[in-house]
Amino acid sequence: MKADEIIKSFEISDDKLTQLIAMMGHELEKGLDKATNDEAEIKMLPSYVTSTPDGTEEGDYLALDLGGTNFRVLLVKISSGNDVKIEMDNQLYPISNELMTGTGTQLFDHLVKCLWDFLVQRDMMCQLLPIGFTFSFPTKHLGIKKTILVSWTKGYTASGVVGEDIGALLNDAINRRFKIRCLNFDLKIMSTVVNDTVGTMVSCAYDHHDTCMGLIVGTGTNMCYMELQKNIGTIDDGDPNDGSEMCINTEWGAFGDNSGALDSVKTFYDEIVDSESPNKGQHVYEKMISGMYMGEIVRRIIVDLHKDKELFESIDPNSVLLSCGLSTAFVSQVLHPGFDTTQIQQYLTGFGVKANENDCNLLKRICEVVSSRAAHLCAVGVVAVAKRIAQNRGTKAPTVGVDGSVYRRHPTFKKILLSKTKQLAPDLDISFELSTDGSGRGAALVAAVESRLQHLQTKSPVE
Ligand code: BG6
Ligand code: GLC
Repeated sequence: MKADEIIKSFEISDDKLTQLIAMMGHELEKGLDKATNDEAEIKMLPSYVTSTPDGTEEGDYLALDLGGTNFRVLLVKISSGNDVKIEMDNQLYPISNELMTGTGTQLFDHLVKCLWDFLVQRDMMCQLLPIGFTFSFPTKHLGIKKTILVSWTKGYTASGVVGEDIGALLNDAINRRFKIRCLNFDLKIMSTVVNDTVGTMVSCAYDHHDTCMGLIVGTGTNMCYMELQKNIGTIDDGDPNDGSEMCINTEWGAFGDNSGALDSVKTFYDEIVDSESPNKGQHVYEKMISGMYMGEIVRRIIVDLHKDKELFESIDPNSVLLSCGLSTAFVSQVLHPGFDTTQIQQYLTGFGVKANENDCNLLKRICEVVSSRAAHLCAVGVVAVAKRIAQNRGTKAPTVGVDGSVYRRHPTFKKILLSKTKQLAPDLDISFELSTDGSGRGAALVAAVESRLQHLQTKSPVE
């Protein structure tokens, strides 16, 4: 049976996963080393975030959060002293496919239009607060205030943005909208741009001080972690005796892009999903794990097995199962713990599918293997990074701050990730903390940490 072969092709042995951990560890080192960074697939991008919040941060901040399922605008109020707390007010705004794939100017004008609407509703226009901008794409930081987009991922292709300074594009768009609406508008505030992994790590670190890794498993997947500055060859050499750290945005989604590390575990379906994506050949690891692709992998298998008469009596020719881009919510629904065969059959009716009991069992098995493989591969990355941290800091019990729709909403992913991580790293005690309010809160905290540090620098010695 073709179905058995397909299912088998998604199973990866523990020996292989252990080999992949070593390969990932090697690629992390290549990305850190100045001599090999150019050719390295995992770019290990320095974030210039060197300090996590210490509880003394305060003030009101705005945060923008772009790159996940939705765009969010947030107002974040941070209080310190006896009453340390963070209050948040936020609003979601959808980003259409046209905006993702149009021009950069259209995209940034839209973001600022949402920001303006948010401020108008709160009667807060024309006096902009400092902005923390979660921009969930690979960016190169030339210092904390200059952030260049390296490449788009996750279906975004907006023109005129790659190679540009994201903070400057945002400021220009703010100027365009605010200048004509606010008298004497003078934009002094530069925004602080952070990756969503960094925002997530910082946000979790505020509540759980051992947090030194930030993981996203959502539309895309990525990890950041605190690395010793002396090991980061791509920034000015640090003092070898200095224990200062900096957060590295690994951009691990690109694992396997050039090294071929994943070739032996890639399936025919991974190849097709990759070849039909807008960034073919890039972010291979991400495409085997994250929510933007998991549903589509399952859909391709369904279509193939149906053609071979191994699955489903009939599929309506207009069914969305026959056109690209099935959402991972489909997989989550099929694997929903409360769902029995009758409920799966009913659910499939909505997709124009006639399925018998065997079909439902086979579909469940397909969703299970695709999901488990994603969780197993993600565990590989978590363990590879945790091993580095253990080596650097001697910390055997790191905390990972996590966010993303797959981690939050997929019914089995989290459980499998946690148990596989434990199994692959029996000598480590890795714990996972779900980020409370998304990475926008972390971006505001990074802006607040920066204000605190700047304030310290500008204080006179006798103050
Ligand atoms: C959110 C963050 O909580 O998680 C986003 O605030 C991030 O910045 C997102 O990109 C990832 O989730 P998803 O599933 O929406 O891609
Ligand atoms: C993609 C982006 C990365 C982001 C991740 C999760 O991999 O390149 O920057 O962190 O998705 O959103």
